[in-house]
Amino acid sequence: MTSFIIAIDGFSSTGKSSFAQMIAKRMNFVYVDSGAIYRLVTLNALQQDLFKDGSIDQNLLKDSLESIDVSYEIKNSKSEICLNGVNVEKRIRMIDVADHVSLIASFGFVRDWVNDKLRKSVLGMNVVMDGRDIGTTVFPNAQLKIFMTADPQIRAQRRVAQLAASGSNPSFDEVYKNILERDYFDSHREVSPLKQAADAIVLDNSHMTMEQQMDWIMSIMREKFNFTFDEA
Ligand code: DC
Repeated sequence: MTSFIIAIDGFSSTGKSSFAQMIAKRMNFVYVDSGAIYRLVTLNALQQDLFKDGSIDQNLLKDSLESIDVSYEIKNSKSEICLNGVNVEKRIRMIDVADHVSLIASFGFVRDWVNDKLRKSVLGMNVVMDGRDIGTTVFPNAQLKIFMTADPQIRAQRRVAQLAASGSNPSFDEVYKNILERDYFDSHREVSPLKQAADAIVLDNSHMTMEQQMDWIMSIMREKFNFTFDEA
C-alpha cells in the first residue's frame, strides 16, 4: 500500500501538534509526534543520571540508546508513548525533560537514531507527523509539507493562556523571551536545523481559528490530491 505523508514543521508554539491531531482525526491518518521521541531519549538519560552540570558524555548517551525500547499504547483513541513498556506520555512533558531536550536533539547520532525509528514505525501508513525537520530530513518525499508560523507576540499570548489554564502564571515577557530564544536555537542548530523545505506551503495562523486551518488543509487535500471526506 502506498502511504500518504503530511509533514508539519515550524516554530514552537504555533499549534503544530493540535493541528496535526485534528487532521489525523478528520482524515483518519495516524498522528506521530516526533518531538516525543526526543523527549523520551532525554527522560531515559535523566533516569540514568547521565547529565553532569547540564552537559552529557556522548559515549554514555550513545550506549543508553541501545537499552531503549519505544512503543505506543492507545488510550481514549490517542496513542501514548512508552519507554521500555512504561507509559511516559505525561512524564516527558515535565519541566526537567523540557530543560534538557534541546541539548539531546542537537546530537547527530541521536537524530539518526530517532529518524530511523520514525521511518520504520509508519511504513505503509497514512501519516501526519509534526516536528522541526520532517519535510526536510525525515520524509523529504512527503506528498504534503506544511511550514507553520505565527507572530511571536501572538504565540506568547496563546502560551500564557495555556499555562494559566494549567495553573502556572509566568509573565508575558518571560514567555515571549523564551519563544524568541527557542526560535533562534531551533533555526541555528548545526545538525538538521528548523528550515522551511523549498516545496513546503506556509501556514501563518496568527489570525486563524482551528476551524479555518482545517478548512484550509481540507481544500488542499481535495483540490490537489483528490481526497474525499465525510462532510461531518
Ligand atoms: O515539539 P516538542 O517541543 O515536543 O519538541 C521537543 C524538542 O525536540 C525540541 O527541543 C525540538 C526538538 N525536535 C527536533 O529537534 N526535531 C524534531 N523533529 C522534533 C522535535
